Formats: sequence, structure tokens, C-alpha cells
Amino acid sequence: MRKFVERALHKLSKLDLDQIRNILGDLARENERLEVVLDSMNDGVFVVDTDGVLIMNNKAGERLLPLKSAETDSSRIWNVIGDKQIAAFIEKTLQDQESLRDREFTLDASGSVRVLSVSVLPLVQKGKIEGTLLHVEDVSEKRAREARLRRAESLASLTTLAAGVAHEIKNPLGSIGIHLQLVNKVLDASESSEAESLREYLEVIAEEVDRLNSIVVDFLFAVRPMDIQLQDSDLHELIQEMVDFVGYELDAADIELVLDLDETVPAMRLDEKYFKQVLINLIKNAIHAMPDGGELRISTENRSDEVLLRVRDTGIGMSSDVIHKIFEPYYTTRDDGSGIGLTLVYKIIREHMGDIAVASEEGKGSTFTVCLPVPQREQHLIGWNGDTT
Ligand SMILES: Nc1ncnc2c1ncn2[C@@H]1O[C@H](COP(=O)(O)OP(=O)(O)OP(=O)(O)O)[C@@H](O)[C@H]1O
Ligand SMILES: [Mg+2]
Repeated sequence: MRKFVERALHKLSKLDLDQIRNILGDLARENERLEVVLDSMNDGVFVVDTDGVLIMNNKAGERLLPLKSAETDSSRIWNVIGDKQIAAFIEKTLQDQESLRDREFTLDASGSVRVLSVSVLPLVQKGKIEGTLLHVEDVSEKRAREARLRRAESLASLTTLAAGVAHEIKNPLGSIGIHLQLVNKVLDASESSEAESLREYLEVIAEEVDRLNSIVVDFLFAVRPMDIQLQDSDLHELIQEMVDFVGYELDAADIELVLDLDETVPAMRLDEKYFKQVLINLIKNAIHAMPDGGELRISTENRSDEVLLRVRDTGIGMSSDVIHKIFEPYYTTRDDGSGIGLTLVYKIIREHMGDIAVASEEGKGSTFTVCLPVPQREQHLIGWNGDTT
């Protein structure tokens, strides 16, 4: 097409009006086709000139990276892009005349977490750099899938290993407990003056054995297959019950609670006993993240085929390194944490066919978003009467 246009331009003076009209018509159609191709892409494309002024972009570009209305036609792209973090990255990269591929950004737009991969590439025309091409791809699904796979793998390997180890530990612990009772019996029968202090020492040992036992039981509980019993439940009632439960702790930690519950959330199929554990773990983590007080916001949103539950705190936040590990069994950054809370949360949510995502910024806070499927009306009717399925 370009060659054809160049040839036409050469003999422009020899062409009559109809011929010029035809050429312009062809050009317009060609242009339109290119626009359609660009607008049909899922990835965002922005083209800027050598001064960084936006020349064109496709629809996906504007959907992924919403633009502020430009003050003037010659506004630089970094002044037009709404997201500050990405705008700053693009400004720096363009000014340093670098080309960078696949830099990822996590956006927490209206609570749903999105991961965008941005590439800044030189636009080369006839061997000369004529501007820059920005390529934006939404990799949220891809990253979520990878994370799910990693979690599922680590959970599966933990399950096999842990069940064996826990049993092995439980047996000697049982035996130690029995022998402690036997020693106590002997002491009871003896008249020795040291019996009293020995009894005290034995009591300490017995307490520690109990503690070990409960750790092992917790452990088994975390890894065993769950017998989830779904029933029609009022999610908001469960939330209210759990926030009442921690009311005193919230007051003591100077944390303000904000509930923003969507009235249209329908009855959900939940195992209430397990789901309360999800809530309590997320709430407790939020409390731990706000040692100097802050705001705990719990919100729900009905999206017709799914319900979102968000637990947001204004606490210490997490680095991206930490975010990648938090669902791993036994990962904790707290001195008194066991690191099993979120493993359990993840497992329970998966048993409910749901999913969980996290967005966090160090020093600003974190949001855990739980996504739960809403049962189809048919399933709903079959499962009604509170019976389990
Ligand atoms: N709301 C949050 N803000 C900041 N960091 C968090 C938040 N929630 C979880 N984390 C991080 O994730 C880690 C793992 O959380 P998880 O609930 O699995 O274990 P834990 O809270 O350390 O111990 P426990 O088993 O007692 O819950 C925490 O140690 C913390 O580093
Ligand atoms: Mg926890």
C-alpha cells in the first residue's frame, strides 16, 4: 500500500479528480482496517513521538490505562496517564531513552486487583527512532493462575509429608504423657521431701507436652481433607458475628471498623464453621498489621455470578517478596505467628470453589479480596431446606 501511495504521489499532477478521490478512498479504508485491527486487540498500544507526545492509542490501551483528559494537544503521555506509578515509570524510561520489557505493576482499581505488564519499545522507521511504542498487557489472570498452581503444589506436598510427620510425633508425645502420669503416681506414694518440687517440674513438662500436642493437632487439622458441609448462609450475619467477636480487640488496638455491605448479596452456599475461620484469620491478620491503630474496612459486593468480600487494612503492608509467600504453609513474619492462618484460609476458600487475591503497599495497607461463586438458581432450589450437598 505504501509503495502504491508513493507512486501515486509522484504522478499526482497527472491524476484527475476521480483518480485522486479513489486513492483517498482506498487510503481511508486501509486506515480504518488498521484501526479495527488495533481496536480488536486485547493488549493496549500507545504510540508517542520523540517528545513523548501521544500520537495514537487503541481502545484496549484506554481501557487498561485510563487517560486523564489532556490539557493541550501536546501534553506528554506521562501527564495524561491516570495511574501515577505507571506514569512515573514511563516518564523516566522515555527520558532515559531506555527500552524496557514486561515491567509489572499491580493496580488495585476499585478493589479488584489487576497486574499490568508494560513494555516501552523504540519505534524504528527507516533505521531512525521516530518515537516510542508502549505495549500494555493485562497479565492478572496469568499471574493468578501461576500463583494458584504454586499454592496447590505446595499444599499437596505438605499434605503427604505432614500427615506422616504429625503422626510420628503424636505417638512419642502420647507415651511421654503416660509416663508422666506414672511418675506422678510414684511421687504420690513416696514420702520424700523433694516430691513437691519434683511435682512442680513435672507439671511444667506436662504443660509443654500439651502445647506440643495442640500444635500437632492444629497441623493435622490444617492439612487433612476438609469435610465441607455447604448450607444456605447469610454472609453478612457471619461477618457481623465475627466483628462482634473481635470488638474488644479492635477497641484496644485503636482500630476503627467500617462495614460496607452490599444489601443485594444473596444467600450463599457456605460451610459456616469453616468460613468463620476465614473471616477471623483475615481480621486477625489485619489487626496484627495495625499495631498503631488504623481502619479495618470489610465490604461486600454482589456481581451477579460472584460475590466479592474485601478485608482492607491501613497497616504496615507487604513487600512483593512477602506477598508471594504468604499462602505458603508456615510462612510468617511475626514472632508469635505460626504461618498457618492464610494456608487454611486459602484451603477453605478453594473448597468453596472461590479464590483469594491480595493487593498491598508497604506502609499503606493491604486488601484481601475473596471471590465466591453465587450458586445458579437451579442449584439453589435443589439444595434448599438447609440440607447439605
Ligand atoms: N493484613 C496483612 N498485612 C500485612 N501482612 C500480612 C497481612 N496478612 C498476612 N500478612 C503476612 O502474611 C504472613 C502469613 O500470614 P498467616 O496468617 O498465614 O500467618 P501468621 O498471621 O503469621 O500466623 P497465624 O498462623 O497465627 O495466623 C504474616 O506473618 C504477615 O507477614
Ligand atoms: Mg494470621
